[in-house]
Amino acid sequence: MTSKQPGGASAAPVYDDGVVRLFTLAAVLWGVVGMLVGVVIAAQMTWPELNFGIPWLSFGRLRPLHTNAVIFAFGGCALFASSYYVVQRTCQTRLFAGPLAQFTFWGWQLVIVLAAVTLPLGITSGKEYAELEWPIDLLIAVVWVSYAVVFFGTIGIRRVRHIYVANWFFGAFIIAVALLHIVNSAALPVSLTKSYSAYAGVQDAMVQWWYGHNAVGFFLTAGFLGMMYYFIPKQAERPVYSYRLSIVHFWALIFTYMWAGPHHLHYTALPDWAQSVGMVFSLVLLAPSWGGMINGIMTLSGAWHKLRDDPILKFLIVSLSFYGMSTFEGPMMSIKTVNALSHYTDWTIGHVHSGALGWVGLISMGTLYYLVPRMFGRTRMYSVRAIELHFWVATIGIVLYIAAMWIAGVMQGLMWRALNPDGTLVNSFVESVKATFPFYVVRLLGGLLYLGGMLIMAWNVVMTARSGRIEPARIPELPAAAHA
Ligand code: HEM
Ligand code: HEM
Repeated sequence: MTSKQPGGASAAPVYDDGVVRLFTLAAVLWGVVGMLVGVVIAAQMTWPELNFGIPWLSFGRLRPLHTNAVIFAFGGCALFASSYYVVQRTCQTRLFAGPLAQFTFWGWQLVIVLAAVTLPLGITSGKEYAELEWPIDLLIAVVWVSYAVVFFGTIGIRRVRHIYVANWFFGAFIIAVALLHIVNSAALPVSLTKSYSAYAGVQDAMVQWWYGHNAVGFFLTAGFLGMMYYFIPKQAERPVYSYRLSIVHFWALIFTYMWAGPHHLHYTALPDWAQSVGMVFSLVLLAPSWGGMINGIMTLSGAWHKLRDDPILKFLIVSLSFYGMSTFEGPMMSIKTVNALSHYTDWTIGHVHSGALGWVGLISMGTLYYLVPRMFGRTRMYSVRAIELHFWVATIGIVLYIAAMWIAGVMQGLMWRALNPDGTLVNSFVESVKATFPFYVVRLLGGLLYLGGMLIMAWNVVMTARSGRIEPARIPELPAAAHA
C-alpha cells in the first residue's frame, strides 16, 4: 500500500514505531531505577547512616541522580515515546527523518548514562535540575535540536490540514526546553569536568529559577498535557470536552508560566517588585491550569461508567485530580506570607511529589499502558488485574507520601518560627528534625509502595512483550477531502 501525497511524494505505508517502542521500554526501565534511588534517599533521610560512609552513596550525590533520573530519564523517555506516537497518528504520516529519530533515542540514553556516572562522582555544575557539566549539556543541545527537527519536520509533511492540539503542547514543550537549556547552561569551562555559570549573583539566581520553574511548566506540564489531550479521548473513546477551551488553555498556560519563576526566590536579594510579579503570575496560573484539568476530566462526560472497569482510564483521570491539587497548592505557596512558612520545609517536597508522583507519574503510566500492547501487536496488556493492582498500590503510596510531607512541613515551619516571650526561639533546629522522624518513615513506606507498583508494571510489560508479536501499524488511507 503506497499512497501519493498532494505534493506527489510517495507516502510510506507504515508508521515509524521502532523508536516509539524503544523509548517506551526505556521509560519503564528508568522509572524503576529513578524511583529506586528515590527510595534510597528517602531511607537515608530517615537513617543517615545508610550512606555507609561511601562518598558516591552520599545523599548530596544521590539526590540529583534521583531528580535527573525521574524527570529526564523516566519522564523524558515517556515524552519522546508519546510525542513520536501522537505526531504520526495525528498527522497521518511517518516520522520526518527516521534515522535522526533513532539518533535522539541513542543520544538521550547516552546523556542518561553519563548523568548516572558523573553525578555520583560528584561532578556537578551545582544548578538544580541542570547539574550536568558542559560537555553533557552540549550533547543534550544536539539531541534536543534533532528532536525538534524530527517533530516539526513531521508536522511539516502532515497529510491533514489541521494541527491537533496535543501537538501544540508537545511543540511548545520542545521549543521552550531548548530555549531554557541553552540560556541557563551558558557557562565558562575551566576543565572537562568543571565550568562556572556565565551569570553572577542575583542574575544567576534569577536565570536559574526562570529555568527551574519553566522546567516544571514545560517539561513536567506542557508535554504531559499533550499526552492528556491525545490519550484521554482515545482511551475514553470520547471527543475532547471543549476544543475551544483547549486552545485558550494552551495560549494562556504558555504565556503565564514564563513570568512565575521569581516565586522560588521570595525574601531574597531579588528586587521586591520582581518577587511580586512572580507571585501575581503564579496566582493567575491557577486559571489556565484548572481550565485544562476540567477539560480533561469532562472529556469523560457520558462515559463515567468506564472508570469502573478500565484501570488505564483510572491512571489518566486520577492524574488530573493530582494535577488540579498541585496547581491549586502552587499558587497558594507563591503568596509571600504563605511561602514564609512553607519555604525550606517538607511542604515543598510534598507539593513537588503531588505533582510528580500524582500528575507526571500517573499520566505517564496510563500512557505507557496504552502504548505497550500496541507496540507489541497485542490488543491489551498481559495482565489487566496487575494494572488495577498497580493503580491502587501507587495511589495509596502517593497519599502516604504527600500527607506525611504536608504535616511534617507545616510542623517544621511552625516550630522554626515559634518564639518565647523574650524573643528567643522555642525550638532548636535539631528538635524539628527529631519531630520529623515518624513522617520520614511514612514517606519511605509511601515511596516503597509507589516503587512496588512500578515493579508490577515492569513485570507486566516484559510479559506483554514476550507474548506479543511486532506487527507494523499501517497509516490509514485518507479521503481526498482530508488532504491539505
Ligand atoms: C518512589 C518514588 C519516589 C520517592 C521515594 C522519592 C523521594 C524523594 C526524596 C527523598 C527527595 C529528597 C527530598 C529532600 O531533599 O528533602 C526527592 C526529591 C525530589 N523528587 Fe522524588 N521521589 C520519588 C519519585 C519521584 C518522581 C516520579 C519524580 C518526578 C517525576 C520526583 C521528583 C523529585 C524532585 C523534583 C525532587 C526535588 C524536590 C525539591 O528540590 O524541592 N520524585 N524525592
Ligand atoms: C499553577 C501551578 C504551580 C505553581 C504556581 C507552583 C508554585 C510553586 C511554589 C510557590 C513553589 C515553592 C517555591 C519555594 O518556596 O522554594 C514550588 C515548588 C516546586 N514545584 Fe510547583 N507550582 C505549580 C505546579 C507544579 C507542578 C504541576 C509540579 C510538578 C509536576 C511542580 C513542581 C515543583 C517543584 C519540583 C518545586 C521545587 C523546586 C525546588 O525548590 O527545587 N509545581 N511550586
